Amino acid sequence: MNKEQLIELDNAIRSWLLTLDQVIPNLVGEMETSTKRNRFDLVTNVDKTIQLQFQQFLNDNYPDHQLLAEEKSNDEVTPKEGHVWIMDPIDGTTNLVKQQEDYCIILGYFVDGVPTLSYIYDYPHQQLHKAVRGYGAYTNGEPITPPETMDLADAIISFNSQVMNNDTINDLYDAAFSYRFIGSCGLDSVRVIQGQFGAHINTNPKPWDIAAQFLFAEELGLTMTTLSNTHLDYATSGPFIISNPGCHEEILQIINSGNGYAKY
Ligand code: IPD
Ligand code: CA
Ligand code: CA
Repeated sequence: MNKEQLIELDNAIRSWLLTLDQVIPNLVGEMETSTKRNRFDLVTNVDKTIQLQFQQFLNDNYPDHQLLAEEKSNDEVTPKEGHVWIMDPIDGTTNLVKQQEDYCIILGYFVDGVPTLSYIYDYPHQQLHKAVRGYGAYTNGEPITPPETMDLADAIISFNSQVMNNDTINDLYDAAFSYRFIGSCGLDSVRVIQGQFGAHINTNPKPWDIAAQFLFAEELGLTMTTLSNTHLDYATSGPFIISNPGCHEEILQIINSGNGYAKY
């Protein structure tokens, strides 16, 4: 894909994302919530409609592009071949339902396995974060400066404390400056991308939770790995950390010490 094609595609996707500004208020105004695997696993008409509209946009404009997304079956998708979009139509659905704030739309675009365009759209705060392969990362068009190296002792870190054992949680609290958790993998990651948090950890993300973060990490010199410090596969996902390079090693040492991080 040459530079002109990349710019054209970026323009088209940003135009599509802007159409959501007209769509989301009505959907939120008539929100219908249902549950999936259990009462805490929510989905709404907002998630479903956004995903359907993006699928329609691809069908109309880029019929050879595949879509791997949360609210559909992905059996037919070959994530490492050709043009592939990975989407979380609403990341932070609990926040959408309970607070109408702190949720985002995540889009990652891969060409033959290479992360090429990324978007995290923080609709409630009207901030569109994007990364373009070879051209850096931006918030509402302003370049994001690669975060300065941060020691864990000086860093705010973020993870879901409900899914780790108390020893690991306390060791992390002791080693870090402080702790915050937004509850949207995309937005917690944005804090790392912007140099506000040292790291975000998710022990059980799916491909759509982390699809966009790969390219932001590459463009900004952040570290994104499995919790065993191995290569993270965007197609299969698994426990992950996106981290300022100054915190990564120490966090993984803590997480993997003793009996590990899993809840006993
Ligand atoms: C969830 C959020 C949450 C994270 C979960 C995700 P959803 O996504 O990102 O912060 O802890 O692992 O599943 O269900 O709101 O799209
Ligand atoms: Ca999600
Ligand atoms: Ca979701």
